[in-house]
Amino acid sequence: SETFAYVNGRLHAEEVDLARIAETVGTPFYCYSTAAIAQRYRRFEAAVAPLGGRICYAVKANSNQAVLATLAGLGAGADVVSEGEARRAVAAGVPPERIVFSGVGKTEAELVYALETGIGQVNIESERDLELLSRLAVAHGRHMPIAIRVNPDVDALTHAKIATGKAENKFGIDIDAAPRVFARAAALPGVEPVAVALHIGSQLTDFTPYEQAFSRVAELVRALRADGIPIRHLDLGGGIGVSYHGGPAPDVAAYAEIVQRTVGDLDCALLFEPGRYLVAEAGVLVGTVIDVKQGATRRFVVADFAMNDLIRPTLYEAYHPILPVIEPLLGATTSVVDVVGPICETGDFLARDRALPPVAPGDLLAVTHAGAYGAVMSSTYNTRPTVPEVLVTGARWAVVRPRPTYDELIGLDRMPDWLAGDSG
Ligand code: LLP
Repeated sequence: SETFAYVNGRLHAEEVDLARIAETVGTPFYCYSTAAIAQRYRRFEAAVAPLGGRICYAVKANSNQAVLATLAGLGAGADVVSEGEARRAVAAGVPPERIVFSGVGKTEAELVYALETGIGQVNIESERDLELLSRLAVAHGRHMPIAIRVNPDVDALTHAKIATGKAENKFGIDIDAAPRVFARAAALPGVEPVAVALHIGSQLTDFTPYEQAFSRVAELVRALRADGIPIRHLDLGGGIGVSYHGGPAPDVAAYAEIVQRTVGDLDCALLFEPGRYLVAEAGVLVGTVIDVKQGATRRFVVADFAMNDLIRPTLYEAYHPILPVIEPLLGATTSVVDVVGPICETGDFLARDRALPPVAPGDLLAVTHAGAYGAVMSSTYNTRPTVPEVLVTGARWAVVRPRPTYDELIGLDRMPDWLAGDSG
């Protein structure tokens, strides 16, 4: 079932006409489909539940509280990397005990928050994290289950900026040093090492790196058990990619098969932290064409969405399909264009060398596969209002984050007293 499809010649999100949302909300805006999220969630769950796997959705991919509540309603816990994300998850109804706190460089304030809120698990990424958490846990009279995130030194075969499991990356503890750190953790008060965690990267479409990494983790678990450290859980991270080009999607069943083969006989409860897989295909960014201009060598479609709304194309050379919201005529000729925004940088593009059917100012365009790492990575650069978000379910839709007014946007600044003359 296609969530975003043309119905009577107009692109719909489920049963809602995107052009109608545009009339009410204005552009640009993000639109997410509840059905698409639920479908991905159920598919992932069906693959990992037979292995005893549970899902903690990686909040960073899309942290809108309506999205979090949708996933919580489906049974997801949350994987968070900051106090802000933890607070969003709690506010959206994720039970604190189903939240995993990951991330490099957790502050003392964040660890105190985790202890006081009853966060279910903290993933330790350094010896400093470990010592600090132990000290704080004792001071707060708490006991915190922890995972130690290891760096298995495998190449995730993905974009260099989102590969996290090579020895040269800042993440986790070198897998060879892990037995010593686990032994230290077992000896410390206030913390209980129950799990090995890893996350080797994002947008993996070739799963051989998982095979290598999980095999190394299995070896580690056996060694730790031989040392008398009873590892009961594995946190296998996220990273399963989606097909941005529309080819066959990476297969979550094949992933589960690798999990089963590598760590299936360890009798560990498994935790997964998918982000992109659950939400990427569930979102589109809709904008309006402002201008179509022919440069000396290239043709530009200038739209009202820009790199500040969706930074993935310029930051990772990412490909996102772009569709006209009004279905092009059958057999319409395409021309090759750059789809750009109004921001004063050459890196401000959503697509380059893209074959598009004819478009004119006023036409609506939808950038698809934009539900993950879209709105969450947006900014107000060029003092552009934060892009609003809409959630659809069936024939219903709601603005789940409004566009701020200009007064709200520029009103965040404060004048120091030496500039704030009383005559204004
Ligand atoms: N767990 C941990 C510890 C992570 O660092 C991440 C993502 C995930 C889970 C979820 O990974 P996913 O299933 O979404 O691949 N902004 C980039 C992606 C950065 C991913 C960072 N870590 C992008 O737009 O491609």
